Amino acid sequence: MFSVQKLNCSWSLAATVASIIALVSILHLSLFPAVPSFDYLAYRQVKDSCFPINGTTDGKKNNLLQDKWIPLNARFPADLHKAVVYRGAPWKAEIGQWLSGCSSVAAPIKVVEEISGKKCKDSCSGQGICNHELGQCRCFHGFNGDGCSERLELSCNYPATEELPYGRWVVSICSAHCDTTRAMCFCGEGTKYPNRPVAESCGFKIIFPTEPDAPKDVDWSKADHDNIFTTNGSMPGWCNVDPVEAYAEKVKFKDDCDCKYDGLLGRFCEIPVSSTCINQCSGQGHCRGGFCQCYDGWYGVDCSIPSVSSSIRDWPQWLRPAQVSVPGNGPITSNITGLKAVVEKKRPLIYVYDLPPEFNSLLLEGRHFKLECVNRIYDPDNATIWTEQLYGSQIAMYESMLASPHRTLNGEEADYFFVPVLDSCIITRADDAPHLSMEQHRGLRSSFTLELYKKAHDHIAQQYPYWNRSSGRDHIWSFSWDEGACYAPKEIWDSMMLVHWGNTNSEHNHSTTAYWADNWDKISSETRGNHSCFDPRKDLVIPAWKRPDDVSLSLKLWARPREKRKTLFYFNGNLGPAYERGRPEATYSMGIRQKLAEEFGSAPNKDGKLGKQHVEDVIVISHPSESYHEDLASSIFCGVMPGDGWSGRMEDSILQGCIPVVIQDGIFLPWENVLNYESFAVRLHEDEIPNLVNILRGFNETEVEFRLANIKKIWQRYLYRDSILLEAKRQKSAYGYVRDWAQQLSELSDDDVFATFVQILHYKLYNDPWRRKDTNQKETGIPRECLLNI
Ligand SMILES: *[C@@H]1O[C@H](CO)[C@@H](O)[C@H](O)[C@H]1NC(C)=O
Ligand SMILES: *[C@@H]1O[C@H](CO)[C@@H](O)[C@H](O)[C@H]1NC(C)=O
Ligand SMILES: *[C@@H]1O[C@H](CO)[C@@H](O)[C@H](O)[C@H]1NC(C)=O
Ligand SMILES: *[C@@H]1O[C@H](CO)[C@@H](O)[C@H](O)[C@H]1NC(C)=O
Ligand SMILES: *[C@@H]1O[C@H](CO)[C@@H](O)[C@H](O)[C@H]1NC(C)=O
Ligand SMILES: *[C@@H]1O[C@H](CO)[C@@H](O)[C@H](O)[C@H]1NC(C)=O
Ligand SMILES: *[C@@H]1O[C@H](CO)[C@@H](O)[C@H](O)[C@H]1NC(C)=O
Ligand SMILES: *[C@@H]1O[C@H](CO)[C@@H](O)[C@H](O)[C@H]1NC(C)=O
Repeated sequence: MFSVQKLNCSWSLAATVASIIALVSILHLSLFPAVPSFDYLAYRQVKDSCFPINGTTDGKKNNLLQDKWIPLNARFPADLHKAVVYRGAPWKAEIGQWLSGCSSVAAPIKVVEEISGKKCKDSCSGQGICNHELGQCRCFHGFNGDGCSERLELSCNYPATEELPYGRWVVSICSAHCDTTRAMCFCGEGTKYPNRPVAESCGFKIIFPTEPDAPKDVDWSKADHDNIFTTNGSMPGWCNVDPVEAYAEKVKFKDDCDCKYDGLLGRFCEIPVSSTCINQCSGQGHCRGGFCQCYDGWYGVDCSIPSVSSSIRDWPQWLRPAQVSVPGNGPITSNITGLKAVVEKKRPLIYVYDLPPEFNSLLLEGRHFKLECVNRIYDPDNATIWTEQLYGSQIAMYESMLASPHRTLNGEEADYFFVPVLDSCIITRADDAPHLSMEQHRGLRSSFTLELYKKAHDHIAQQYPYWNRSSGRDHIWSFSWDEGACYAPKEIWDSMMLVHWGNTNSEHNHSTTAYWADNWDKISSETRGNHSCFDPRKDLVIPAWKRPDDVSLSLKLWARPREKRKTLFYFNGNLGPAYERGRPEATYSMGIRQKLAEEFGSAPNKDGKLGKQHVEDVIVISHPSESYHEDLASSIFCGVMPGDGWSGRMEDSILQGCIPVVIQDGIFLPWENVLNYESFAVRLHEDEIPNLVNILRGFNETEVEFRLANIKKIWQRYLYRDSILLEAKRQKSAYGYVRDWAQQLSELSDDDVFATFVQILHYKLYNDPWRRKDTNQKETGIPRECLLNI
């Protein structure tokens, strides 16, 4: 272990590396985190503690490692269904065995992290952030060029025609003042509230319906300047409405106007609130509508990377404990372009590309609707409002990776490379503004998205050495949308895909979405190639985002015992055209929910009919329920079937402790290729639907109790606890509050989504067949016997 020698260091003076050198004239200096990285409440104290040391590791570590190691040919306890249990979860045997024998004894290794100090042209003119590793600017929305000095003109409107003076409809369509750096519409100068949004229909004439309950329409060819610009009368225009008078009901205003853009709340957008940024800029920057404007010396999408001019005391936890080598000879100046830090880390090591902002930050900064593609926004106190946005997992995963102790800046040492393209943003934004043009894509968001991934591929293959080395096989991409990686460009198919849609194309060999714009059947095989949507040998289905719900958490619904579960089977969701408000498409849910309802529907359909085999303890309904979580927690089995694409039913079921009954042939669910589903779920063929209830009644109590007990042990593997606690930590340090959800979650400690992900990466690192020819003798931290497979 380390021999630790305390030094009395005054961090208030140690503002830069250079001044540290002046202060303590030693060549090595370490920061010691003192607490485990997930102890979020202790975070603040950690930042202020400092223990420079003079020692190095002793030689005993490897022996210790050997002592703890259990030979892989030892018999690991297997469960009723041949799973091998590791950290509470029933894994597929070969994975559980390796994890138990090898991952459990892994020791830290020393990684050299390069802290860079390259300068950017004109310091990016104050209109961008300098990536100090590459010396390249990342310009804010609407700015461009090497030094971000070029200002773009991003129009809100498509070109005018005689019939359509504001161009054809697009979300950004504007009859007021267009902010051409973001293609967003505001009141503009000359009005009382120039920064108030005039989003979409607000600025245009509303056509009121002739029939009473019919929806309103908008005439996109006619501006409604009366209702936005007038200053007089009892109905001032939207841009002149005084919030105080309006709240007191002294004046009326156009109620189609609202405050869609992020960063503003209140009926009149009068309350400034935090916008949503990746990791909220890690406390080292200002969130500029979604783009992290990092403080001097910091960079990266979330300002988490220090440069040589950042204070070591502020280094993030994933760079600790660090031994920093500084140039020993010559005069000490602040003119250092690089610095080596030796950091203790455990494999797997993940390198996260800091891509140009068009793939992430700009998509966030330019979004027209605050709820687009994020899993949280902020209330008037800047407290977190978590959303139900299922696609929020993409951001949760990205944030965890950026803050993870497995992260490295050293691409030569890295085992995996994450390419952060936020498709959850590009897809929801595909109609946002003319500069995000879908013109060449026939309206297909799938094709539009494919192109963005292709562009990211071209960028990393040109600019970095890592892609070509492995043809991208050690790279990881995230495809969060309904059809998962079905439309991944052919160039990147060798990589690992993180998806929610594990379609192996064995039964369903074509696009299965009921939403036409996501259909990929018509994308040419020249761009898409001819790959399946999911390859269980390399890809992973990860859980969808579910909001931390303090009510469910405090009731511990995941642990509700068998005797309190009276309903045999429960499913509540859209059941198709036979029901009120049912989705009309026959392809919706690939017809599966419709089949289920035909047999077991337990509420009358439009014709007043119940399912052919309806029974009392089987509930198949389509009305939104106030007590949805409670209903799931009162059931033994819960249905998991597709919606438009995937749906979040697996997570609903597991988080409420109900045994999932999966009905989607050939389509994998979260962790299904690594966990042993038979130990906690039931899978039925689509053809077996008529026999569903008989099959479920056939499970004896031992089998039911066994599954319920397993769910109780693994439910957190379907929860993004790590990323939620990162937010809790930020809230605590910024506002001093511990929110209810944070309190509940901080008391949990089993492995969550991210921990599971890291375990899988660790297994794959030493067991994926393609790595076998990897003769690179990197330090592993695991016993040699664990590498025998290679
Ligand atoms: C570290 O410092 C202590 C106290 O000065 C000394 O006894 C020890 O030998 C040093 N260790 C090494 C490895 O230099
Ligand atoms: C309000 O202003 C408009 C011109 O913008 C004018 O035509 C109208 O007469 C004014 N109404 C009142 C009540 O002052
Ligand atoms: C919330 O954050 C915004 C943006 O940083 C700031 O303007 C506002 O004053 C903050 N509100 C509170 C209550 O702290
Ligand atoms: C930094 O180093 C470069 C080249 O080594 C030199 O040209 C420059 O003047 C130095 N700047 C300072 C502030 O010392
Ligand atoms: C990777 O390979 C591509 C295609 O052969 C080539 O164009 C590119 O320059 C290579 N990248 C690097 C960094 O060498
Ligand atoms: C999908 O499978 C069906 C029958 O299994 C076959 O008729 C069809 O040609 C296949 N489609 C594609 C795109 O391979
Ligand atoms: C795509 O691949 C499948 C199986 O790998 C093959 O049967 C099919 O003919 C291929 N289709 C095209 C268009 O190449
Ligand atoms: C319960 O069912 C399992 C699987 O069918 C069977 O192996 C086991 O013997 C049964 N247990 C009892 C107590 O009937």
